[in-house]
Amino acid sequence: MATDRRDRTPTADPPATDDEHAAHLERSRRVWDRWSDWYGTSESDFEPIREAAIDRLDLQRGDRVLEIGCGPGVNFERVRRDIGAEGELVAVDYSPGMLENARARIEAHGWENVRVLRADATTVEFDDPFDVALATLSLSVMPDIRRAAETVYRSLVPGGRIAVVDIRSFPSGPARVLNPLVRRFLRWYANWNPDGGVVDALATVFDECEVVDTHMAGTSYTVVCEKRDAG
Ligand SMILES: C[S@@+](CC[C@H](N)C(=O)[O-])C[C@H]1O[C@@H](n2cnc3c(N)ncnc32)[C@H](O)[C@@H]1O
Repeated sequence: MATDRRDRTPTADPPATDDEHAAHLERSRRVWDRWSDWYGTSESDFEPIREAAIDRLDLQRGDRVLEIGCGPGVNFERVRRDIGAEGELVAVDYSPGMLENARARIEAHGWENVRVLRADATTVEFDDPFDVALATLSLSVMPDIRRAAETVYRSLVPGGRIAVVDIRSFPSGPARVLNPLVRRFLRWYANWNPDGGVVDALATVFDECEVVDTHMAGTSYTVVCEKRDAG
C-alpha cells in the first residue's frame, strides 16, 4: 500500500493533553524498566523482521542514523556493521533500565560512534540532521505517535527515510474476535496504544509511505516512509 501525504486527511485522534502525555510516559518508563531485564525472547523472536526492515533502508557507510525507542540496543550491531566506524548511530529511549543495557552493549563492543540518549522521542530535538531513521516495536508505545513521526521528519535530511516495524491487533479474519483481549494484554504488557494508528500517522506526516511487509497474520508489519521536501 503506497500512500501520499497530499492525498490524506489528518488523523482524527485529538492530541493528548499534557497531563495524559506525562502519565503515559511515566507508565512507559515503569513498564519498560520492569521488562529491561527480561527482554531476550522479544529480542530473538523479532530479529528476522527487524533485519528485513533494516535491509530496506539500504544503509551506507558513513550514514548518520537516528533510532527511537531503541530498548536494550537490539539493532545496534546490524546498524553499526552497515554504517561502519565512519557513520554515527544516535539512539533514544525513555527507560533508564533499557538504556543501561544499551550502554553495556556499546561498551562490550567498544563502539565509539554509537551514542544513547535518554529522552522522550516525541519531543526531542537534534542539532544535526540524520540520513536515516529506525523505530522497531516502539512507535505504538509512545504517548503521541503523530508527534513522534513529526520529530523524526524534522530530524531527517531531504530524501531521508525511516523504517518502522510495529504491531497491531488482527486486521482481518475470524481471529479478530480476540482483539479486545489482545488489546488489553498489550496495554498491560507494553503500554501499547491500540488506537494510535501508526501507519496513518506516518502517512500524514511523511511525503510517501508504504507498508512493505506484514507478518504473523498481519499483526506485525513494516512501513518505509520518505521525506522528499526540505520542510
Ligand atoms: C517494545 S520496546 C522496543 C525496543 C527495541 N526497539 C526492539 O525492537 O525490541 C519499546 C521501547 O520504546 C521505549 N519508549 C517508549 N516510549 C518512549 C518515548 N516516548 N521516548 C523514547 N522511548 C520510548 C521503551 O522504553 C522501550 O524501550
